[in-house]
Order: sequence, then structure tokens, then C-alpha cells
Amino acid sequence: MSRPTSGALLSHEAVLAAYRRYAPGYDTLFGPVLEPGRRRTVAQMAPRAGEAVLEIGVGTGLSLRHYPRHTAVTGIDLSPHMLARAARKVQRHGLSHVALHRMDAQRLGFADGSFDKVAAMYVASVVPDPAAMMAEAVRVCRSGGEIYVLNHFSTPVGLARRIEEGLAPFARAIGFDPRFDLDSFIAATGLPVVSVAPVNLFGYWKLLCLRKP
Ligand SMILES: C[S@@+](CC[C@H](N)C(=O)[O-])C[C@H]1O[C@@H](n2cnc3c(N)ncnc32)[C@H](O)[C@@H]1O
Repeated sequence: MSRPTSGALLSHEAVLAAYRRYAPGYDTLFGPVLEPGRRRTVAQMAPRAGEAVLEIGVGTGLSLRHYPRHTAVTGIDLSPHMLARAARKVQRHGLSHVALHRMDAQRLGFADGSFDKVAAMYVASVVPDPAAMMAEAVRVCRSGGEIYVLNHFSTPVGLARRIEEGLAPFARAIGFDPRFDLDSFIAATGLPVVSVAPVNLFGYWKLLCLRKP
């Protein structure tokens, strides 16, 4: 699977540095504006009683209160600074059905087929190697399970495209790659698409649902 962007601009070090900076203000900056997508993802996922869900790149845990308590939710993230804030939410809201682990999305420490559903919200263009992340998401998802990817994908033309191109050289500093092509991303997973839906402001983000055969 080739990277659906112009180059590997990110590294684990760049991600850690960026999210150490973002962590204190993350919920203010990216909480409400990206919230409809988080709610929509969990609503579409509709986890049933007893199902196991993995959330990759759980960040400060903004989505965690949306999962029903009858679901076993596992959240992983590379950044200890983001995870510490998620852990506080788990404690504050008594989310005993949620477990958090510091882990690399590109090397998950779970057995094959461990989860019924896997979600990655606003993470695919942040990890240094999205192909490796998706390969791991597919590996730990059970056969017949679903993988949800919520992300910004690049705009083909117009002002937004020019802004994305302009931001691209700063990917390391901003902590994500603004050029991320949806069709290449889907094709590279090799998985059947269940649905693609526009979400958030101007439908600028997409919620993609894939099924593991
Ligand atoms: C934009 S934030 C999204 C956080 C959360 N999903 C949300 O909805 O706000 C991206 C998250 O991905 C995490 N991340 C980046 N690379 C990662 C990796 N290789 N493994 C695990 N998490 C990673 C970052 O630490 C950060 O918390």
C-alpha cells in the first residue's frame, strides 16, 4: 500500500512533539469543531452489548463518553500527554468500560481478530505510515467486522486545495499531512467500502466505513 500523499513528512518524534504542544489546548481548539464527526462515528458504529471496540489515536478521549457502557472500549495513543487527559476523563466520568494503553498504531499489541469494530478518528493523516496503521487495524479486527476512518481528505481543486498545498511543507510542525487522497487511501486498503459520508463543517471531513471480509 503506497502512502496516498506526497511523502513521509511525519515521524514519531514529530507527532510526539506536536501533540505535547497541542495537548493542553486540544479540547478547546479541536473539541466542538470536530465533535459532530465523533458523534456520527459512534452512532453509525452502534456497538452492541458485549462488543469490543478499539479506538486508534484516542487522543484526549473526547469520543469516550459517546460509547454505550455495555461496550468494551479500548483506546490507544502514542502521545502520553494526550493519553493523560483521556485518563482524567475516564476517571472523572467513571468510564469503567474503557481501557487506555500507550501504543503505536503501526504496531498494535493485540492478537488478530480481537475487536468487533475499529475506529480511527482524525488520525490517518497524522500517523507517519497510514498504510501500516490500516494493516494493523485490519489485522486486529475480526472477520466481518467494521473499520471506521474519520478524516480530512484533500480537496481536488480550488482555494482549499491551494491552502493544503501551502501547508504541506509544515506537516512536521502542525502534526498532520494536509494532502491525503481519499480514492488512493480506499484503494490501498483493498477492503470493500460500506459507506462514505461527508461530516463536520462544509462536509470537509469524511466518515469512511470499510468491512473486513
Ligand atoms: C488529531 S488527534 C485526534 C485525537 C482524537 N481521535 C480526536 O477525535 O480528537 C491525533 C491523535 O493521533 C495520535 N497518534 C499519532 N500517531 C500515532 C501513532 N503512530 N500511534 C498512536 N497514536 C498516534 C496523536 O498522538 C493524537 O492524539
